[in-house]
Amino acid sequence: MANTTGNGYGFATWTNFIEESQIRALLKYNVKYYFAGGKPGIIPTGIFADIMADLSVKYKENPKLALDDFNYGPTGGETWFLKTLAKRLCDVRGIPIDCETEWDRVAITNGSQQAIYALLDTLIDPGDVIITPSPAYLGFLAPAEKLGGRVITIPTDLDGIIPGDVEKAIEVSKKKFGKCPDIIYVVPDSDNPKGTTLPMKRRQALFDIAETYEILLIEDAAYAEIQFKENPKAIKTLDKENNRVAYLGTSSKEAAVLRVGYSVLPSDVKEQVLKDKGYLDLCTTTLVQRILDEYYKNYIDEAMRAGIPKYKKRYEAMAKAIDASFPAGVRTDPTGGFFIWWQSNDKKFDAGEFMKRVAIPNDILYVPGAPFYPQSGHRLTKDNTDLRKSLPQPNTMRLGFSYLPPETISEGIEHLGDLLSKELG
Ligand SMILES: Cc1ncc(COP(=O)(O)O)c(C=O)c1O
Repeated sequence: MANTTGNGYGFATWTNFIEESQIRALLKYNVKYYFAGGKPGIIPTGIFADIMADLSVKYKENPKLALDDFNYGPTGGETWFLKTLAKRLCDVRGIPIDCETEWDRVAITNGSQQAIYALLDTLIDPGDVIITPSPAYLGFLAPAEKLGGRVITIPTDLDGIIPGDVEKAIEVSKKKFGKCPDIIYVVPDSDNPKGTTLPMKRRQALFDIAETYEILLIEDAAYAEIQFKENPKAIKTLDKENNRVAYLGTSSKEAAVLRVGYSVLPSDVKEQVLKDKGYLDLCTTTLVQRILDEYYKNYIDEAMRAGIPKYKKRYEAMAKAIDASFPAGVRTDPTGGFFIWWQSNDKKFDAGEFMKRVAIPNDILYVPGAPFYPQSGHRLTKDNTDLRKSLPQPNTMRLGFSYLPPETISEGIEHLGDLLSKELG
């Protein structure tokens, strides 16, 4: 039965079973040692101040430009901005787009989160099947379940999702649910939450599986520009026909959190996604597109050159402090992105309960691992022939190194390590 408001009208059924995002909920805590949400801590604010100062002069000189930039625009983004993004995607990520003639393959959304939602909303009917890694980005899992998708989670190792198991899950889905999955979702570059990066061989294997079974592969490239060493090519580079891979980029990590995501989608998928976006927000703020257009045209390389080594230092400080102070467990070793994933060897340890009881009173916040597993999803059995209810692993946590300077990270992680060691012996 649906929730009621107490005022005579009722809430939709999903409000009963979808909880508030654990990460959003954690934003209310103001702690000294913040290792929770993926908040960028290195934002080129000086560059953005310069861009805005230049723009304010331009707007005074050219009121027509100002009128346009403070106005509604096309749902999928302004042509000039799409051309700039197409060039970046082509030059830096090797995505096969002819910038002169195919720039309209790029579409923008309010953050890549909106692209995730609109993709699910336009592809998934209740009962449709979706494949994700285990664990997976909770901002993908919650909307997938809200829309009635059946999530099958696939085991991951230190290289990310295991393609052979994806293929087995597809076969099991056909047998159990009488249908092939519609979507495979991955974050190939420095995954959220595990921080792992898919090697090229696995990217190719996933692409081949998506081709063979005619499934849409969502490549969420949120952290693709935040890389400490050269990364394997984007899966999208394999999609010469532009019909198999939905590539999602975002300015949130590589520029600033101005709520602009940019995607390259198969053209029929793009049409539906933009139809959905049109009803969600009409369009993305034009002024924000103008600011980011300047950034992507003239400043991003300089900002990345300065910012990435700083993120790397933060990662190194966190990894070193974990190794020095945490009790027995396993951590991932990311080569980019914002997160390290840690799993205690003690299977009975509950990172959620520990956070409330011990970490928060000690001014420390991280994200417990359990929300990165679907609430009502499925997992493969050990012999890969059947499905069982998804099994969250409460003895895990996601530790974000993006927000704080290295010294504070070292201090906070060592403090957390001491508390964990006391707890776990
Ligand atoms: C993997 C992944 N995808 C998508 C998003 C959403 O990003 P945004 O909506 O800010 O573009 C995030 C944000 O943290 C993320 O980690």
